[in-house]
Amino acid sequence: MNTLFEKCNNSDAIRTAADILRRGGLVAFPTETVYGLGGDALDPSASARIYAAKGRPSDNPLIVHIADKKDVRELAEEVPPKAEMLIEAFWPGPLTIILKKKPLVPDATTGGLDTVAIRMPSHPAAMEMIRQAGVYVAAPSANRSGRPSPTTASHVAEDLSGEIDMILDGGPVGIGIESTIVDLTEEIPMILRPGFITRAMLEAIVGEVRLDPTLITLEETVEGTLPDPSDRLQHPKAPGMRYTHYAPHGILSIVTDPAQPQEITPAVTSKILELASEALKAGHITAVLTTGESSSAYDSLAEDPHFHRITLGDTDDGQTVAQHLYGALRTCDDLKCDTIYSESFRRDALGSAIMNRLIKAAGHRVITV
Ligand code: TXA
Ligand code: MG
Repeated sequence: MNTLFEKCNNSDAIRTAADILRRGGLVAFPTETVYGLGGDALDPSASARIYAAKGRPSDNPLIVHIADKKDVRELAEEVPPKAEMLIEAFWPGPLTIILKKKPLVPDATTGGLDTVAIRMPSHPAAMEMIRQAGVYVAAPSANRSGRPSPTTASHVAEDLSGEIDMILDGGPVGIGIESTIVDLTEEIPMILRPGFITRAMLEAIVGEVRLDPTLITLEETVEGTLPDPSDRLQHPKAPGMRYTHYAPHGILSIVTDPAQPQEITPAVTSKILELASEALKAGHITAVLTTGESSSAYDSLAEDPHFHRITLGDTDDGQTVAQHLYGALRTCDDLKCDTIYSESFRRDALGSAIMNRLIKAAGHRVITV
C-alpha cells in the first residue's frame, strides 16, 4: 500500500484524512501526547486493520477519540458525576477515562471488555480531523507493537509506512508520553496509567484517587526496594500495561541511589561511568541517557566511537525529558546500541510517568548503588 504523507497545516490534508477515516481506512495523526493510528471506532473491520498494522495483540483495547465532550454519552452507558468533573477540568487534553460501554461500541474496539476508554485530544489537527470525519476515532499509539510510541511523524513512517493509508505530519508532539488513564467504573477513581495529568491534579478535582496496585510496585522499584517477583504476576487493569513495551534492542538498565532516589548523586554517575567503561571494553556499542546537569560526568568516554551520550533534559525540566524519552530509545536502536545505562529521573509531577515508561523499557532492571 502507498502511504500518503502530508503536513497537517494544509486544510486539504485534513479533509483527505477525514475522508479516509469515513471510508474505513487508517490515518496516523498527531495528538498532544504521542501520534495515534486512527480508524473508525464503530467499524470492527477498521479496528481489525489497526491491530494488523501494529502487530498488536487483539485483546489489548483501543482508546476512542472524540471531538465533542457530549459524545461521551453516545459511547458510555453512564457518566458518573466524578467523570463529569474530570471531563470539565481536563478535556480536551491528555486524560483518558474508562466507563461502561454502550452496545454500539464493538468488541473489536474494546478487546471484548464491557468498558470503553474515551479521550478528547486537544491537538487542533486531531480535533479538526475527527470533527470533519464525523466518526469516533479508535487510536492506539502509532508505533509497531513493542516499539516506543512515536513522537514525530518520521517515527510513524519508520514503523508503519506501506501499512496504512496516510500519515498527517504535525511536527514533534508537545508532551511526549501517553495520556493518563483513569478508571471511573468504581466509586473511587483509579489511575491505570500515569501521565501528564498527575494524581494530585486529579485529586484536586474529585478527592481520593487510587493507583492500580501494579503501578505501586513500579514506584517502589524506583525507591530502591526491589519488588517481590510474584508482584509482577499481578494483572494490571489496563491490558496494555502488562506487555513489555518500548523495550530497545539493547539491554537497558537504570542506575539509582536509594539513599537519594530524587537526585543523580556522584555515586550514580561514577557507577554508570564504571559500567559503561566495562561494556565498551567488552566491545559493546554503549549509550548513556543523562540529564543536562550530569552529562559532563561522562566526558572521559566522549572520544570512544562506540560511546553515545544522549541528554534528555535538565533535572527540573520533566517536560523536556518526557518529550525526548521515546526518541532517545529509538536513537539507541538506530545506533545499534548493545548496552544502555540510564540515570533515574526525578519523580516530581511528570516524573512518575517518565519513570513508569523507563522502568518498563528497562524490563525492571534497576541497579542500586
Ligand atoms: O495518549 C494516548 O493515550 C495515545 C494517543 C494516541 O491518544 N494513545 C495510546 O493508546 O496510548 P494505546 O493503545 O497505545 O494505549 C491504550 C491503553 C492500553 O494500555 C490499553 O490496554 C488501555 O489503554 N485501555 C484501553 N481500553 C481500556 C479499557 N476499556 N479498560 C482498561 N484499559 C484500557
Ligand atoms: Mg501504545
